[in-house]
Amino acid sequence: MKIIKSILEIQQITTKLHQSKKTIGFVPTMGYFHKGHLSLMKQAKHENEISIVSIFVNPLQFGPNEDYDSYPRDEERDINLAKQMGVDYLFMPTIEEMYPTEMVIKMAATERTNALCGRSRPGHFDGVITVLTKLFHIVQPNKIYFGLKDAQQVAVVDALITDLNFPIDLVGLSTVRDNSGLAMSSRNINLTKEERDQAIWLYKSLKIGQQLIVDGEENPVIIKKEIINTLKQHIDVGIDYVEILEFPSLHTVSVIDKKQIIIAVAIFFKYARLIDNLILNMDGQVLKRLD
Ligand code: PAF
Repeated sequence: MKIIKSILEIQQITTKLHQSKKTIGFVPTMGYFHKGHLSLMKQAKHENEISIVSIFVNPLQFGPNEDYDSYPRDEERDINLAKQMGVDYLFMPTIEEMYPTEMVIKMAATERTNALCGRSRPGHFDGVITVLTKLFHIVQPNKIYFGLKDAQQVAVVDALITDLNFPIDLVGLSTVRDNSGLAMSSRNINLTKEERDQAIWLYKSLKIGQQLIVDGEENPVIIKKEIINTLKQHIDVGIDYVEILEFPSLHTVSVIDKKQIIIAVAIFFKYARLIDNLILNMDGQVLKRLD
């Protein structure tokens, strides 16, 4: 595995790869790898001739009171894990390399961002689409791999590549969970033991919502109420949101009748805000892969 810090160097490499008609699978990350990241790398490697992973904690997508400074980082461990996964190139630019001067161009996602995390984190997705646009130009991938745990991010990236005509295929892969059902997240490290025990109720409450839909409940208000009641019984911290929306448009749903929908929750623990979701296809089953 080759570690590259320079934009020019990786761009020269990927340009040559395209000239020799090699396909590139790209996994953009902020590091502190967990099994979810590793599953994206495995798939990128399996479906492409060359796999590239980036690690860059992007300051532009953190609000002033968010956890940019305390976001978990462990470069050495990440490098070893990427090596073990057989990644071909690990791109690890510095902030100065990515943002040498103040940006003159500002990007804004105006749809798909007024709900869920976009509502609680104003400007977050503008930062995400800015860094991804840069990374797509730098890495020039054929396919990009994202975890469906960050479903709103997937919906926004889907719009980014469509609206800006990136010749890239987006692949969303299912959330990787531990045995208790807790979704893998770099931020889980910030949970206390007690919070970790409570956090399993994010997934459990989503499954209760799914079961109601499978059993024929079509009213999202009733399903949300049931999820909120379940969460309140088992978690003694703040609920940021419980939402049921169409996916990937993220439009409001008033009746769940044969639509692909997302049930999403976000909870504030003391030092971590956790999110989880289920994307359900028309017959109420969990979507495993988005292409
Ligand atoms: O999901 C993430 O880790 C980040 O939002 C991403 C896509 C790497 C952009 O900084």
